[in-house]
Amino acid sequence: MAAKPKVFVTRRIPAAGLDRIRAACAAEVWDGPLPPAYDLIRQKAADCDGLVTLLTDKIDAALLDAAPRLKVVSNYAVGFNNVDVAAATARGVAVGNTPGVLTDATADMAFCLLIAAARRLAVGVDDARGGKWKTWEPLGWLGQDLVGRTLGVVGMGRIGYALAKRCRGGWDMPVLYYDVHRNEKAEVELGAVKVELNTLLSESDFISVHTDLNETTRGLFNAARFKQMKPTAVFVNTARGPVVVEADLVEALKNGVIFAAGLDVTDPEPPPPDSPLWRAPNLIVAPHVASATVGTRGAMAQICASNLLAGLRGEKLPACVNTDVEGKRRK
Ligand code: DGY
Repeated sequence: MAAKPKVFVTRRIPAAGLDRIRAACAAEVWDGPLPPAYDLIRQKAADCDGLVTLLTDKIDAALLDAAPRLKVVSNYAVGFNNVDVAAATARGVAVGNTPGVLTDATADMAFCLLIAAARRLAVGVDDARGGKWKTWEPLGWLGQDLVGRTLGVVGMGRIGYALAKRCRGGWDMPVLYYDVHRNEKAEVELGAVKVELNTLLSESDFISVHTDLNETTRGLFNAARFKQMKPTAVFVNTARGPVVVEADLVEALKNGVIFAAGLDVTDPEPPPPDSPLWRAPNLIVAPHVASATVGTRGAMAQICASNLLAGLRGEKLPACVNTDVEGKRRK
């Protein structure tokens, strides 16, 4: 009987995927409370055929060079900015991700942050807990309305569309979007209008970020961009932390340049205890939980396992981010 392929799984993922991986592979699963260190992954990868990685694991050229048998990196996330995809392709290693299944959960979280920030929920809850709620306040904890206000979506992919659908259908919000690609479905079904980023920033009441992280989006939201927004604007980021210059966001909130913000992602994650983010007014920070529902994480685990197992067999991955690896795959 042929030996089972050897894989290293950098964190415990839901059983829906992990059980299939364990059944088909000689799998070592990292069980620590924090992600394994880079050097440890590199050491484990040295004699592995496959890796299951998380967005917290850096998979770079040096690590790939230290893993001569590696055929597949199956990333348990839709985002894959933690993996040097070009380096993987050059070495014949297929890279998988988990698109589609987390669209609704992430759009729900974007909307949750949008409404929570608009209604200053974090400060209200803190004040209620902290004894600052003395009576019903005619002028206390005032937020912003949503109905009929304009939503600006930066990155009109699957998740941006799903958020726009919620806001358009439920809250009657006109939708502007900025993207390098046109999204005809959003235009036809939601009446979304594609505009330049400057227009979106100055005309939107709510701005939600759904871009991936790359060299054109890193630091996209800086002081100059916050200044272009309305003083009543609510800014939400569920994409990747480095898309925002956090020091500039904190200043924008402190100085009333914008009204409020909600972040599900930060840079780094978590922010250190002395990060100014923790003291910024009208800011709600969630611990990168947009995909964190039982059903969604289970579905991600399924795709992740399918990608890994297909990669180990030398088959096309159901969700592959470097399809150009075909023809160069390691045997
Ligand atoms: C992703 O999948 O990229 C999210 O950030 C976590 O689910």
